[in-house]
Amino acid sequence: MQGSTVVITGASSGIGKHTAIGLAALGATTVLACRDRAKAEVAAAEVRASAGGDARVDVVDLDLADLASVQDCAATLLDRYDRIDVLVNNAGGVWSPRRVTRQGLEMTFGVNHLGHFALTALLAERLRDSGPSRIVNVSSAAHWFAFGGMRFGDLQAERRYAGFDAYARSKLANILFTRELARRLAGTGVTANAVHPGPVRSGFGMDGDLGGLAGLGNRMVRPFEITPEAGARTSIHVAAAPGLAATSGGYFARSRPARTAPWAGDDAAAARLWEASLRIAAGAGLVLPDVAAQAG
Ligand SMILES: NC(=O)c1ccc[n+]([C@@H]2O[C@H](COP(=O)([O-])OP(=O)(O)OC[C@H]3O[C@@H](n4cnc5c(N)ncnc54)[C@H](OP(=O)(O)O)[C@@H]3O)[C@@H](O)[C@H]2O)c1
Repeated sequence: MQGSTVVITGASSGIGKHTAIGLAALGATTVLACRDRAKAEVAAAEVRASAGGDARVDVVDLDLADLASVQDCAATLLDRYDRIDVLVNNAGGVWSPRRVTRQGLEMTFGVNHLGHFALTALLAERLRDSGPSRIVNVSSAAHWFAFGGMRFGDLQAERRYAGFDAYARSKLANILFTRELARRLAGTGVTANAVHPGPVRSGFGMDGDLGGLAGLGNRMVRPFEITPEAGARTSIHVAAAPGLAATSGGYFARSRPARTAPWAGDDAAAARLWEASLRIAAGAGLVLPDVAAQAG
């Protein structure tokens, strides 16, 4: 990946940091888009040391819970990098009880889905101009628990909220977003795929953000989970494998195509989520460019 620039969100720890390590080892310039600058600089030093030589590893500020920060991050990236070859939308979290973003959106939907939706829309033209390029959305097998699909009547979970349920639906949103993105970007040289990293022993849900039974379950399975390094393998594979240059709209686990839940294959829901996301972002003050209109 010599000469390529890769942007990875949430690369300050866990799977994101190891995705950066893996892609830097392949020769890419890696850009760690993170909300905690000090933590990100420590991770960047680790990525640099691991890649050795003169690897370029940069940090940009990104708080996905604030659409103004997403907009600033996109502007910084467009200003600093003439090309963006890979965007890995990796950051994510799970929260209970219900919290809201800076713009008052439910946190899980806001961070895991809408922040990445907005960042991708703002970078789409640069990705297209850098083509062939790739977008990798880090989803989860947890989307299998989003029974009944997206709750379009209550996307902000105002009527009903449970941390794991909101998480499962946000990871379903990642796959539906990937499908619609792939459809819109067809023929532009930009591919979009979703991945499930596996059950990973990272910081995920460990900082008191996940309570109740789900929190207990999350702690109990830790001894059986894989390392963040192993968890990054599928993201690295989908971001870099030469054989996947033309593959788009897929879902991968263990570096292989994997089956999604039936509700993740609903193209009408994917299109509806896209329109709803544009509307919600606009309602929060961020009018996004239309990715389809940019395709040429
Ligand atoms: N761990 C698993 O078993 C598992 C399984 C399936 C899917 N996944 C997915 O894998 C991805 C990475 O998770 P992980 O396991 O590596 O967890 P992690 O170690 O907790 O890392 C999550 C990353 O997301 C960042 N983040 C959280 N909120 C953010 C915000 N508002 N703005 C910007 N960055 C934010 C965190 O930043 P800070 O360092 O500042 O907190 C951190 O860098 C997530 O999308 C998760 O849904 C994980």
